[in-house]
Amino acid sequence: MLAYGGDWNPEQWPEEIWSQDVRLMREAGVNRVSLGIFAWSKLEPAEGVYDFAWLDRCMDLLAENGIRANLATPTAAPPPWFAATYPQALPVDADGRVLTHGSRQSFCPSSPIYREKALAIAEKVATRYAGHEALALWHIHNEYGCHNSRCFCDTSAEAFRSWLCERYQSVDQVNQAWGSAFWSQLYSDWSQILPPRATPTFTNPAQQLDFRRFSSDALIELYRAERDLLAGITPGVPFSTNLMPGMHWEMDQFAFARELDVVSADHYLVGTDPEPHIHLAFSADLARSLNGGRPWLLMEHSTSGVNWQGHNRAKQPGEMIRNSAQHLARGADGIMFFQWRASAAGAEKWHSAMVPHAGTETKIWREVVELGALLHDNAAVEGSTVAADVAILMDYSSIWAQEHPAQPTTKHKPIDVIREWYGQLWKLGVTADVVHPSADLTGYQAVIVPALYSVNDHSQANLERFVEQGGVTLVGPYSGIVDEHDRVRLGGYPGAWRELLGITVEEFFPLDDDIRLTSGATGTVWSQLTHARGAKVLDSYVTGEPAWTRNVYGEGVAHSLTTLLTGDDLKHVIAEVCADAGVATSDHPGVEIVRRGHPDGSVHVFAINHTAEDVTVQGVGTVPAGRVVIAHQASAFPQEVAP
Ligand code: GAL
Repeated sequence: MLAYGGDWNPEQWPEEIWSQDVRLMREAGVNRVSLGIFAWSKLEPAEGVYDFAWLDRCMDLLAENGIRANLATPTAAPPPWFAATYPQALPVDADGRVLTHGSRQSFCPSSPIYREKALAIAEKVATRYAGHEALALWHIHNEYGCHNSRCFCDTSAEAFRSWLCERYQSVDQVNQAWGSAFWSQLYSDWSQILPPRATPTFTNPAQQLDFRRFSSDALIELYRAERDLLAGITPGVPFSTNLMPGMHWEMDQFAFARELDVVSADHYLVGTDPEPHIHLAFSADLARSLNGGRPWLLMEHSTSGVNWQGHNRAKQPGEMIRNSAQHLARGADGIMFFQWRASAAGAEKWHSAMVPHAGTETKIWREVVELGALLHDNAAVEGSTVAADVAILMDYSSIWAQEHPAQPTTKHKPIDVIREWYGQLWKLGVTADVVHPSADLTGYQAVIVPALYSVNDHSQANLERFVEQGGVTLVGPYSGIVDEHDRVRLGGYPGAWRELLGITVEEFFPLDDDIRLTSGATGTVWSQLTHARGAKVLDSYVTGEPAWTRNVYGEGVAHSLTTLLTGDDLKHVIAEVCADAGVATSDHPGVEIVRRGHPDGSVHVFAINHTAEDVTVQGVGTVPAGRVVIAHQASAFPQEVAP
C-alpha cells in the first residue's frame, strides 16, 4: 500500500473536529498521518507534568479507522518553560545574539540540558505508544537543523573542540589542517579555538568548513541519541526523520540518510522558479539516491501555496497531482503533505493544506480525493525501483568549502551549477542519480561532475577508476581544485584530475561579461587559461584556448568544460557526453517520462505532461495537457516508450 496523508495537528483544534477529520481522511483514501510533531508544550505543559490523554484518543481514533501514524517525538519545538528555565540552552548566532523561544527549534544542538529534556519526552512518548496498533513509523524530531543548524555559543565551542580533538588528536594537527600559519592563527592550546564567530574580516576557510561539518554531525548525533533510545523501547518499529534534499544545504544528508530506516524527504516548489517541476525532480532523485536507489517516502509537500516565500504562488489546477506523480515516478512509496487541515491561527495559517479553510467544495479537496484514488489504483508501484544510467556527483562539504566568500568569484555558485546541469539532463529525458563522490560508480555509464571544488584522494581515485574502466565523465570548471581541508592541489589546476582530463590550467579569469566561444556557444561567469595536454579541443575561446575538451583515459573518456555554459549550449555538450557513453537521450521539453521496475521485469511508465498540449507517448498513449498517465507493462520494452 502506498502511504497517503499529511501532518495531522489535532492539538490545534477542538475535539469535535477530530472525528470529522478522520471521516474526511477516509473519504480521501488517507492511510497515514504524521502526528504530534509540534506537541511538546501540550504533552508536557510544565516540566515533568504530562498530559497524554488527548493523544491517546487521537491514536485510538486512527487505529479504529485503519489509519496509521508516523508518530513524532516532539523535540523540534521546546516549550516556553524550557527556555525560561534553561536559557543557557538557547541558540546563539555568529554575532553573539541569543535567539529566544516564540517560534520553533530554539535550542542549541550541543546543549546537554536540551538533550536530556528531549530524551525524557521522547521516552514518555515511546513507552506510552509501544505496541499501539496505529504506530507505523517513528518520525523523530522535524527537519533537523532547519532553523538552528549552527550555534556559536560557549557550549557549542566546547563541543567543537571535542569534535576537533577526535578528528585531529593534537592542536598541531589542527594547525596543519587549517593552514593556521597564515595570518598568525597558530593555536597553542585547545581553549583558544573558537567557532567561526564574527571576525574583522574573512575567517579561516578550513575552520569554517570544519565548523559546518561539526554542526552537521552534532545534529546527526542528536538524532542518534533519540533513535537509540526508541530502539530499546519499541524494537522493530522503523525510524525516520524528514530530510530536505535539494532544499536545505546545512546538513550532510548523505551521512544523515545512512542512519535512517526509512529515508523521508520534504519538498516545496519555489514560486519564482520558471521550471519548478525540474527542481522537484532533482530533489526526488536526490532523495532516492540518499536511500541507495531504494524507495523513499515523501513526507511533506504542499497542496498549493506556501507562506514563507514572501509572495507565494498558488498551484494551478492539476499541478499538485503532477507534482505528486513526479515524486512517485522517481521512487517515492508514499505521498504526504504539510499539513492535513489548514491552521486557523499561528504562523502557518496561510500555508495550503489538504483541507483548506474553505472546506471541501474546493479545487484543493477535489484534487486531494483524486490523488487518493490515483495512489489506490497504482498500489502495484510500491517497492519498484528506478534505474539510472547517469550519476551526478555532489558533496555537501565541497559546497560548504566553496561557499567561503574569498573565491576567484562568488558568482560561481555550486548549487546553481549542479541544478542547471541536472536541468539539462532532465530536458534530455535522462534520469540521473545524485550521489556522493565516494559512491560505488560501477553500473553507471556516465558520471557528471558539475561543481566539485573540493575532493579527497579517495574520491579523486574513484572517478579516475570509473573512467579507466570504460566510463565517461564530464567535469565542470573549478572542480578538483582543493583537498578536504580546502588546501590547493598544486602544480596546475585541477590538481585532482589533470591526468584524467588531459589538461592543465594556469590561471582563472572570472568573466565580467559573457563570452562567445568558437562554436557560437556563450560562456558565463568563469574562464581559465587552459592548456591541452593530450586532450582534444572540441570548442575554444576566440583566443584559441580550450573551452571544451575530450580526453581518452584508459578504456573511457573524460570531457571537461573550462567555462560555465547554460541552457541549450550546455544541453548540447551533455548530449554529446551521453552519446559517448551510449546513454539514450530524447528531446521532449515538458513531458517527463520515468520508469519504475520490478525484479520480474514489469515496469510502470510514468508520463507527466507539463505542457498545455496533449501529447502522444508511444507505449503509453495520449497524455492530455497537464495530466499524468501511468502505464503498466508486463515486461520492460523501454525502446517502445518514446514521445
Ligand atoms: C517544513 C516544516 C513544516 C512546515 C512546512 C511549511 O519545513 O517541516 O512543519 O513548516 O515546512 O512549508
